[in-house]
Amino acid sequence: MSELVKFTREDDVAVVTIDNPPVNALSPGVPEGLKASIQAAAEEPQVRAVVIIGAGQTFIAGADIREFGKIVSGEKPRLSLLPYLNSIEDSPKPVVVAIHGTAFGGGLETAMSGHYRVMAPSAQAGQPEVKLGLIPGAGGTQRLPRLAGVSKAAEMCAFGEPIKAQEALALGLVDRIIEGDLLEGAIAFAREVADRPIPKTRDRNDKLRDANPATLAQAREQARKLKRGQRAPLAAIDAIEAATKLSFEEGCKREAEFFNECLFSTESKALIYAFFGERTVSKIPDIPKETKTYDIRRAAVIGAGTMGGGITMNFANAGIPVMVKETAQDALDRGMSNIRSNYARTVEKGRLSQAGMDQRLALITPQLSYNGFDEADIVIEAVFENMAVKKQVFSEIGQIAKRGCILASNTSSLDIDEIASVTRRPEMVVGTHFFSPANVMRLLEVVRGKATANEVIATCMGLGKKLNKVAVLARNCRGFIGNRIVGPYLREAHFLVEEGASVEQVNQALYDFGMAMGPLAMDDLTGLDVSWAIRQEFKRFDKPGVRQPLVPDLLCELRRFGQKSGRGWSKYDENRKPSPDPEVAALIENASREAGIERRAISNEEIVERCVYALVNEGAQVLEEGIALRAVDIDITYLYGYGFPAWRGGPMFYADTVGLKNVLARIEEFEQQHGPELWHPAPLLKRLVDSGRTFEGMGAAQGK
Ligand code: 3HC
Ligand code: NAI
Repeated sequence: MSELVKFTREDDVAVVTIDNPPVNALSPGVPEGLKASIQAAAEEPQVRAVVIIGAGQTFIAGADIREFGKIVSGEKPRLSLLPYLNSIEDSPKPVVVAIHGTAFGGGLETAMSGHYRVMAPSAQAGQPEVKLGLIPGAGGTQRLPRLAGVSKAAEMCAFGEPIKAQEALALGLVDRIIEGDLLEGAIAFAREVADRPIPKTRDRNDKLRDANPATLAQAREQARKLKRGQRAPLAAIDAIEAATKLSFEEGCKREAEFFNECLFSTESKALIYAFFGERTVSKIPDIPKETKTYDIRRAAVIGAGTMGGGITMNFANAGIPVMVKETAQDALDRGMSNIRSNYARTVEKGRLSQAGMDQRLALITPQLSYNGFDEADIVIEAVFENMAVKKQVFSEIGQIAKRGCILASNTSSLDIDEIASVTRRPEMVVGTHFFSPANVMRLLEVVRGKATANEVIATCMGLGKKLNKVAVLARNCRGFIGNRIVGPYLREAHFLVEEGASVEQVNQALYDFGMAMGPLAMDDLTGLDVSWAIRQEFKRFDKPGVRQPLVPDLLCELRRFGQKSGRGWSKYDENRKPSPDPEVAALIENASREAGIERRAISNEEIVERCVYALVNEGAQVLEEGIALRAVDIDITYLYGYGFPAWRGGPMFYADTVGLKNVLARIEEFEQQHGPELWHPAPLLKRLVDSGRTFEGMGAAQGK
């Protein structure tokens, strides 16, 4: 048959098993094997029905994503899966598809080509292609509305979120949920239906006729809002609309056209790069997979402020008991009350049960002493961003923590080695930099000090996964990967308002580029006082004569700390909705005038280029210094920690798509205009341009 698809027989039922680890993707050989198996079943007289099932952890997780790159680069022609799946539907004997794990993308399309579907209670089904900048390309946009209805199909294809077994059953997407052994249940079901007339999905039009014309208009409106700047979600809806207007065959042709358009788009290349990037960052070249890790059974957090509270919740959410220590009862009460109200909001939204909230709270022990800290497997410090305070805390925990306990700091910029120096076990000290709000943001920067042991790093990278984070490894430097690079980005945003752009224009230009929010809105969200404190800490490193932003300090002196104080770059109402503040506009103009900065009209293009290329240039420097292992580590940091649009791949990938030559030329112009201290092109960027290479093409090397 095929190495990847096995054909066996259970008396009168043929069992076709896809066995292509790890996720049974439809790699070359699988579709061919499926078609041949259906043919074989047709030819065996004893066979009355067929069951298709996946071996291992899952049914089929979709087309083989690695193949798309080969098609786009011209290495391979595109082979449509559709004829193979149609051959399943054309089987003269009924085909029952048995789903466990995930039936995603081409996996769900395979399932819908069968005549019946049965599902394990824990299984999920979805069309997540849109998350790769694609649309379903093997009949999904034509079969799904026929089975699940137009509205649900539009939602699933445009937003890519999977549904669970119970919902699939209610929609009519599957015919039965099988408790217990899935294969046994599927075979029994196949015998039940063996003599019935064979239902084909393509012939079902009842749910298409019910389509309300407003449904697709609403889906498009939602897609424009929630998938801002992206083409694939709208293409998916267009293809579903074709299902409502054309025959199945014609609809499939339209789908293929849209699929091809998406496949060759930069959006899709970027999203596929991000998919693999998320998995690449967990691989550390000098720390093999087999590296020993510590069990984290009990955690402790120091500080119950903005970050400490969120970090505590992460442990409780993962079922790990956690102590949280403060210095005073009122701070502890405030911290616990924030944690409680965060959980209560999730309960109100229906995303957590009251019992779930109670269970999580029961895992948290608030305290004012170090009682029990000698039992913790990891202690994470989240006290004020001040070296003296951090050193005091580390010298205390260095004495209390048991052997083998990981001592972690949530510092966002301070020197991990200096912090480690006050303990007698620097090999156990590491940075675990969570992002705010820590219970929501998925990025975890793990910071490797000079002495940090490989086992400690491997444990923290694994812990990230357990806490549902994406962990990226950084070396120690001021600000590590994320905040080191964000410095020049914010600097340019601050300079641009001094040179004539308004606060709103700067925010809007970067929002329109695709950022989750503009840079000054981000300042207001994180708190201007936070960066103010960091600036004080590092003031001694400022180079004399080099231009520094003027306005952030002035805002802080007026106690305009951003959203938390209702006023920052913008003013905020009680719902934290921003509006322009003429007082800030006047303050900026005044500061510019006093500093002799000539104000001018600035284009949105210049705003985007200056902010984003500042990220790229500093990113190249961070790569050169080995702070980030690979360009993709910077990109993933920006996608998960800073709201960079995934469909642009991240700052370094974006620079590749603009062309590094073009990026360098613009940076050289900025150097001319603003001086080499701010805009000297990173040597690595120059070398890549000279050798015609890209950041992506550097792979795992550091470009030296
Ligand atoms: N193709 C190729 N490789 C895939 C793959 C796919 N569809 N899905 C997962 N993999 C690889 C991963 O890269 C990873 O490789 P690695 O071990 O070398 O890093 C390995 O399989 C295991 O994957 P995960 O680490 O993600 O395992 P999890 O258990 O955490 O998650 C999953 C499993 C939920 C299936 C998740 O991998 C996933 O969401 N995969 C992508 C699903 C998807 O997008 N399908 C649509 C594909 S496009 C399509 O089908 C087009 C069609 O309409 C024509
Ligand atoms: P915060 O001011 O909200 O909280 C700090 C808490 O630590 C306070 O409640 C304080 O009472 C407590 N504390 C101080 N000394 C203590 C001690 N010796 N023992 C126990 N508790 C003590 O500060 P925030 O914002 O939570 O920051 C904490 C750390 O996280 C800092 O290092 C900061 O740089 C970092 N960080 C902050 C981010 C943010 O957006 N706020 C993002 C990522 C990191």
